[in-house]
Amino acid sequence: MRVIILGSAAGGGVPQWNCACPNCADARHDNRGRSQSCVAVSADGERWILLNASPDLRTQLAAHHELWPRGRRGSTIAAVILTDGEIDHTLGLLLLRESASRLPVYAPGGVTALLDDAWPLYRVLSAYVGVESRVLDEARRIPLTDLTGAPLGIRCAAAPVARRPPRYARGASPATFDVGLRLEDERTGGTLAYVPTAGAIDDPVRGLASGADLLLFDGTFWSDDELRAVSGSDAPTAREMGHLPVGTPGGSLEQLPRLGAKRTVLVHINNTNPLLCRSSAERARVEAAGITVGEDAMEFEL
Ligand code: MLT
Ligand code: MN
Ligand code: ZN
Repeated sequence: MRVIILGSAAGGGVPQWNCACPNCADARHDNRGRSQSCVAVSADGERWILLNASPDLRTQLAAHHELWPRGRRGSTIAAVILTDGEIDHTLGLLLLRESASRLPVYAPGGVTALLDDAWPLYRVLSAYVGVESRVLDEARRIPLTDLTGAPLGIRCAAAPVARRPPRYARGASPATFDVGLRLEDERTGGTLAYVPTAGAIDDPVRGLASGADLLLFDGTFWSDDELRAVSGSDAPTAREMGHLPVGTPGGSLEQLPRLGAKRTVLVHINNTNPLLCRSSAERARVEAAGITVGEDAMEFEL
């Protein structure tokens, strides 16, 4: 299975348009930013599955020749899997509206409902070619298939992770709004655990990560009150947003090395996170723990 990190930043990207924190200021000066959270995987190098659909998808697809159209018109995107219904993970669906055929979109039940209602992307897209909505069943490992039902060579299991509905739907009735994925190449057995958002390292996360060749994990915030330093005391904490901080006591840095994944890479990193600065003490601590800070365009073969 080939894995490409198309975008390694959390919502807003780096630099974020209205942010002048040190990371955003540096990214502007160096002209070296990070695009928003999105990963592409493929078992055959021809048909790709997007893990989330970022608002930066147009430039992300243009940046990787593997994802360029074959022939005059033709998509290399066989399916999309959404792990949550947040704007940074779903807006990119709108950018795929030129598709000539319906796009299979796997999503947890709660997210599928939101995309027909509170954030009606599916409804809007139905005026174009539309999507084929497929609800991710949390109880089963399923073979992923393209629109015709042809297997893509990858099995997928989803597990709910500790979070809550997106801010635009705080009052939504209880349902699964966030999952982590475990994707397995049917031929090589290579396994990817993809958990870009998690409020805790709990049994579902342990089950997804254990023995995985690669774990891509939530690196959104270093500390709980990080947003408050730039946005003021009204800003939500990391935990209120459903992100376990990396560096605080009890944070993910202490726990990730014990989850039994062969390699761990942080993704969905917010622009305020001090570990983005290569010379920071926070970066040094992460690297000393054997954990990699994800970058746009990082590739893996599993
Ligand atoms: C999140 O991952 O917590 C959300 O994408 C935050 C947001 O940008 O609204
Ligand atoms: Mn997000
Ligand atoms: Zn910033």
